[in-house]
Amino acid sequence: MRVPPLKTIFTFLGSALGLTLFLTASSLLGAEPTAAEPSPGSGFSWARFLAPFHMVVLHLPIGFISMVTALELWTWWKPSAERRAVIQFGMLLAVGATAATMLFGYLRASGGGYDELTLGRHRGWGIAAGALILVSWALHWVTLRHPARGGLVAFRTLLFTGFLCLSVAGHHGGSLTHGSTFLTENAPAAVRGFLGMTPDFAGATTEAGSTAGYETVRVSLEKKCFVCHGPEKQKGKLRLDDRALALKGGASGRPALTPGDPGRSEIIRASLLPKDHDEAMPPEGKEPLTEVEIATLIRWIQEGASY
Ligand code: HEC
Repeated sequence: MRVPPLKTIFTFLGSALGLTLFLTASSLLGAEPTAAEPSPGSGFSWARFLAPFHMVVLHLPIGFISMVTALELWTWWKPSAERRAVIQFGMLLAVGATAATMLFGYLRASGGGYDELTLGRHRGWGIAAGALILVSWALHWVTLRHPARGGLVAFRTLLFTGFLCLSVAGHHGGSLTHGSTFLTENAPAAVRGFLGMTPDFAGATTEAGSTAGYETVRVSLEKKCFVCHGPEKQKGKLRLDDRALALKGGASGRPALTPGDPGRSEIIRASLLPKDHDEAMPPEGKEPLTEVEIATLIRWIQEGASY
């Protein structure tokens, strides 16, 4: 085996150093706004401005890496120097897009409001994917210039592993923004059963006269409130899928639920406020509870709000 030329070694070291610098810089950038953020909306902050763009740019690495993976499979099957060059270019785009996505991701996470466990998984798998994409890009670059046996095999292994990490990171990211049941909530009963999900009681909520048990209420809350007040996110420090936490309430300190007293239950007050009121729930643009759903909630609270 040939000793790799100095240039190769420098490429690797440079890439590793670049990644380290990038991660350090982005976490520092990301940490700053949390510390200097007494109330959202006070003053301009680059971090707060750029953070939402995570949701836009994140689609680019997914697209580039999927495309490169498909091209690599094709080229593995039918070698082609032209496609090799395209793969190299695709990897370069993927590296740039991944770096931007990670940077914006750090900014977004520093804004808070996410379930720490899911966020940690999303971040961990995302960093793994980013590192693998960077290293496989460098490896491909080197292999194109200094063809060595095993170079392409190593590239392929790293690329496919990176693709898998990216998929897992994407899955946890989806759970953070859409809730973990986003894809499966309307799945056929057999699939829901297979995944261990509770049966869908949606039909029951539309019948005003029927029961006001927690199952009935949960379906409405799960669809319209748990995205922001459930296991993944606790906007306004409020979590509604757990009775003790709902009784305790959120940032306002007022109970979200007072068993037997809908009038002292914030979830009812917030649901009845006019749409343009600051505290109206769900916030503007989200599907509101129907009158029947609110009536069922009120009856459920009157009957003791059992979970
Ligand atoms: C898109 C996200 C989102 C959805 C969906 C949502 N909320 Fe909220 N909710 C928030 C945010 C953000 C706050 C904090 C508002 C603030 O501090 O000004 C909040 C605050 C609240 C509060 C006040 C908590 C406190 O004590 O300060 C209640 C009560 C509430 N939501 C109930 C609901 C109910 C009931 C639903 C479903 C019908 C719902 N929310 C759906 C985002 C959401």
